[in-house]
Amino acid sequence: MQKRTVLQRLSLAGLAGLALSLPLALTGTAFAQAKPFKIGFILPMTGQQASTGRQIEAAAKLYMAQNGSTVSGRKIELVFKDDGGVADQTRRIAQELVVNDKVDVLAGFGLTPLALATAPIATQSKTPMVVTAAATSIITEQSPYIVRTSFTLPQVSVSIAEWAAKNKIKKVVTFVADYGPGLDAEKFFKSQFKLNGGEITGEIRSPLRSPDFAPFLQKVADLKPDAVFVFLPSGQGAAFMKQFGERGLDKSGIKLIATGDVTDDDQLNDMGDVALGVVNSHHYSAAHPSAANKKFVQAFEAQSKFRPNFMAVAGYDGMRVIYSALGATKGQGGGDALLAAMKGQVFESPRGQVLIDAQTRDIVQDVYIRKVEKQNGQLYNVEFDVQKAVKDPGKAK
Ligand code: DHB
Repeated sequence: MQKRTVLQRLSLAGLAGLALSLPLALTGTAFAQAKPFKIGFILPMTGQQASTGRQIEAAAKLYMAQNGSTVSGRKIELVFKDDGGVADQTRRIAQELVVNDKVDVLAGFGLTPLALATAPIATQSKTPMVVTAAATSIITEQSPYIVRTSFTLPQVSVSIAEWAAKNKIKKVVTFVADYGPGLDAEKFFKSQFKLNGGEITGEIRSPLRSPDFAPFLQKVADLKPDAVFVFLPSGQGAAFMKQFGERGLDKSGIKLIATGDVTDDDQLNDMGDVALGVVNSHHYSAAHPSAANKKFVQAFEAQSKFRPNFMAVAGYDGMRVIYSALGATKGQGGGDALLAAMKGQVFESPRGQVLIDAQTRDIVQDVYIRKVEKQNGQLYNVEFDVQKAVKDPGKAK
């Protein structure tokens, strides 16, 4: 690698500049080694999605505390920027990070529109973009430099649809946030549920920003389905659950089923008994019973004083993917070399075994069916069934 850099520079410099360029080229290579490797996290640290930023920042710092701040002799520098969950801000910050701060990797992206706004910058600058939150299927197709360590809504929605159809639920009303991941959840739940003989008797969408769930919940009550299937982004679950209880829906005979975004570990413990018994599907639970997860949760809580959720685990694994890729390039980095080293990575995450699919650059992982239960006085998503190695169904053309 080092040799090739020197040779390339020599041929570019041409004969006239040879005497001058040789020492410069060598100095340049040595400089690249000494230069810190910068990871620029863009996250919502304020606003409606602030818990996503808080979780991912804590997880990235934990990963570094546990794994050191150098890789192959290269110093790692973490930069955290707050976009407030606003796409124009994300785009502006990404541009600054790439052009002024010269970051080696972009990471984070708390909402789908924020990831979509940054994709062209990753492509133009050949900067790897590690998506540790946003979960609409199409995101990874927006740039060949995107790698995802979170999940996709189709991945988790298909599993709960299968579970519902097998568990005497015949009529379902869907209730989703009205943007990318909600539309994915609605579409993939619906097609799988219908394939298994179920019927969709209503489709409700609520606005992403400052939603008032009351009128939508009234509609669910009026439609009287066997169950309502819900997707809302991280941070909205507690408000939804409160209104679900206040309107008496928990006692109406209408079952609540959801993706695990709703019974988010970040808020679950504050939701109270209305959340008890809610069956949901997701790729990560703080209660996942593996040694690796117990170690992760313990260290995370000791450092941060709050419970890690699915955003935290994606941030932690995102760091691992970046560290491994930098190690594979012997500390040299470079957009294309890093991307090549990220593709096909297989490792044990606190959530279980995962793979970064070399073709799609999306994560392949187990999806668990869980039920909210009380353990030692605390609410947890307790896993009781699993679908192994689920690829994003959104990519199967
Ligand atoms: C997205 C955001 C979330 O908080 C979540 O739980 C799932 C998806 C998103 O915008 O892609």
